[in-house]
Amino acid sequence: MSEKILVTGGAGYIGSHCVLELVEAGYTPVVIDNFHNAIRGGKALPESIRRVQEIVGTEILFQELDLLDEASLQELFKKHRFLAVMHFAGLKAVGESVQMPLQYYKVNLTGTIRLLEAMKAHEVKNIVFSSSATVYGDPAYLPLDENHPVGGCTNPYGKSKYFIEEIIRDVCKAEPDWNAVLLRYFNPIGAHKSGRIGEDPQGIPNNLMPYVAQVAVGRRECLNVFGNDYNTVDGTGVRDYIHVVDLAKGHIAALEKLKENCGCKIYNLGTGTGCSVLQMVKAMEKASGKEIKYKIVARREGDVASCYANPRLAEQELGWKAAFGLDQMCEDLWRWQSQNPTGFSKN
Ligand code: UD1
Repeated sequence: MSEKILVTGGAGYIGSHCVLELVEAGYTPVVIDNFHNAIRGGKALPESIRRVQEIVGTEILFQELDLLDEASLQELFKKHRFLAVMHFAGLKAVGESVQMPLQYYKVNLTGTIRLLEAMKAHEVKNIVFSSSATVYGDPAYLPLDENHPVGGCTNPYGKSKYFIEEIIRDVCKAEPDWNAVLLRYFNPIGAHKSGRIGEDPQGIPNNLMPYVAQVAVGRRECLNVFGNDYNTVDGTGVRDYIHVVDLAKGHIAALEKLKENCGCKIYNLGTGTGCSVLQMVKAMEKASGKEIKYKIVARREGDVASCYANPRLAEQELGWKAAFGLDQMCEDLWRWQSQNPTGFSKN
């Protein structure tokens, strides 16, 4: 019998790519999602999961469930025996989090606490958590390693990631037989090579590459580049973009780590290479063959000049390393965007 993994928020961008990798690695994912961001497909499934089923050719267990619904969560844990949990569910828009901090803390923190309580009650002691490089705040040095001070970020979304890390660390201290891997993502982009699943932000994209892709496909007129007076190669912000499929494979490596009874571990998932906004625009123009119009506007509040990972620890301890380069990321993003100009919805 293949091992069951609970995937919270599994219909989302990163979650759905991880579900696919879990199936390919021989696990049985059980996906829950509350449809806050996901589009409904046929047969009561999110469209992303319906498409993952198509790609892998097997049925995927799915239940519509909100982590704040304690009774249903308990039922779920009674129904299945999970080896581990991969926790992606949560609100994630930085700007919105500044407007509605209570909502962000309620969903992200309370949702996680309910999940951890259910795990404890049902003796599920392994968790992989979807954290973010945002916990490092403004880098004191680069590249960022896992020992860099954390908690310096200024918005409720980022703080919720930091708080959840702390909560999970404390649980692991109190429960010595628990294992946790906290994965600090840099900037995930791209899509599965099939072009069938990818990132589908609702409304105007907050993040750079979904916006760039929508300009390339003609859905938006012009990219606003947030500042060109940073102390970087060309004045625009530098980030560590990582292919979402590499990121998903990092989660499989994290699962294997849990099986070693690793206790609480933290790893960066990045490539170690920084790219500027304008370098990303060029790379996407090359991949798509389209001109991407842009204009320079004011800096976005809360943005740092540069942020990129030291990915060595994950390489040494997880045996994981990003394999895809920038051209591949942009080609795969373009395949997804050009074949699905309106994302998962039909119009
Ligand atoms: C953002 C979030 C971060 C979150 C991450 C993943 C902020 C301040 N940070 O990171 O907390 O974990 O997304 O969701 O929102 N840019 C433009 N024009 C745009 C969009 C972005 O020039 O329309 C620039 C930004 O200034 C930055 C780079 O592109 O230099 C990347 O931005 P983005 O994709 O939003 O990622 P982060 O800011 O790194």
